[in-house]
Amino acid sequence: MAGLEKKKEQVRILVTGGAGYIGSHVVKALGEKGYDVLTYDNLSSGNRWAVLHGDLIVTDLADKNALKKAIHDYKPDAVMHFAAHIIVPESVREPLKYYQNNTVNTLNLLDVMRDEGVKRVIFSSTAAVYGLPEEMPVSENALLLPINPYGTSKMMTERILKDLSSAYDDFRYVSLRYFNVAGADAQGRIGQAYKKSTHLITRALKTAKGEFEKLQIFGTDYPTPDGTGIRDYIHVDDIADAHLSALEYLIQGGESDVFNCGYGHGYSVKEVVETAKRVTGVDFPVEDTGRREGDTPILIADSSKIRRQLNWKPKYDDLEYIIKTAWEWEKRK
Ligand code: UD1
Repeated sequence: MAGLEKKKEQVRILVTGGAGYIGSHVVKALGEKGYDVLTYDNLSSGNRWAVLHGDLIVTDLADKNALKKAIHDYKPDAVMHFAAHIIVPESVREPLKYYQNNTVNTLNLLDVMRDEGVKRVIFSSTAAVYGLPEEMPVSENALLLPINPYGTSKMMTERILKDLSSAYDDFRYVSLRYFNVAGADAQGRIGQAYKKSTHLITRALKTAKGEFEKLQIFGTDYPTPDGTGIRDYIHVDDIADAHLSALEYLIQGGESDVFNCGYGHGYSVKEVVETAKRVTGVDFPVEDTGRREGDTPILIADSSKIRRQLNWKPKYDDLEYIIKTAWEWEKRK
């Protein structure tokens, strides 16, 4: 497929879930780079104030007529698709909710895109598609064996995208598999605002703030140096930047592909807790509890592919900075 011959301010990006945590940081980055942006969000977990650039349409992806009208009227050059449910334990309890919103609603979106001639999509995937990988760091070639409906719902969508790109020569996608996204906008305008958040860094900071009595450490008997789980924490602005790189790649006519988004090294739960205590200055209570069901001991990205092929250069590979920005944000709320 040939590249798109347009100036940036003429390139139109429809962002589903643009009022949510990661989506809003991407909308910010797109706006700062001069792209034309339209957010499509049902505000089930996103917020109107989080959309710093462009207009917002408040509707659901399940509403195919509204979706068709939005895409028909806006005529995007590409879609970035963030809208999804993301809570792993909830997905185990309510799988249909996840398959409906994450998989079926994506089908609606792709169907309408096809009808309206929109040929590029950047999809928010997750490291959860790997399940319990045998090799660490995990590369994009690893087997996809998700262990919960959340991961499966994303894997199924990746498969649909792959089949679409095989069926239609002019359809291109990039799927970005996020590792553990954390941190907030340096100016404190946007950040993780999801009330039900189960993320370690958010829980630790809310405990420092006094919102929770104590932070539970899920498992201290993992085969890791200090016995706690290790994850590849990546700053949300670096994730946003990966989307811009992916977009430029597709605009220049790049082939469909899948990329891990992580730094390539990790921190243990105990290291995160120590850093959170240092950054906040609060020695908050911590309790060692048993393992959480479905957790893998270590999850670290092999991120060489995205660095090489998309020339992605992360700027905030620093746990202290990640936690500092999250803390500044948390204190403002
Ligand atoms: C998972 C998903 C990710 C999803 C996220 C939030 C996978 C591979 N990844 O990440 O896609 O966005 O959930 O739903 O499934 N921990 C504690 N105490 C806490 C919270 C967490 O000890 O209160 C530990 C966990 O056991 C884990 C680490 O901290 O070792 C990170 O957990 P979390 O922030 O919940 O993210 P993941 O489970 O890695």
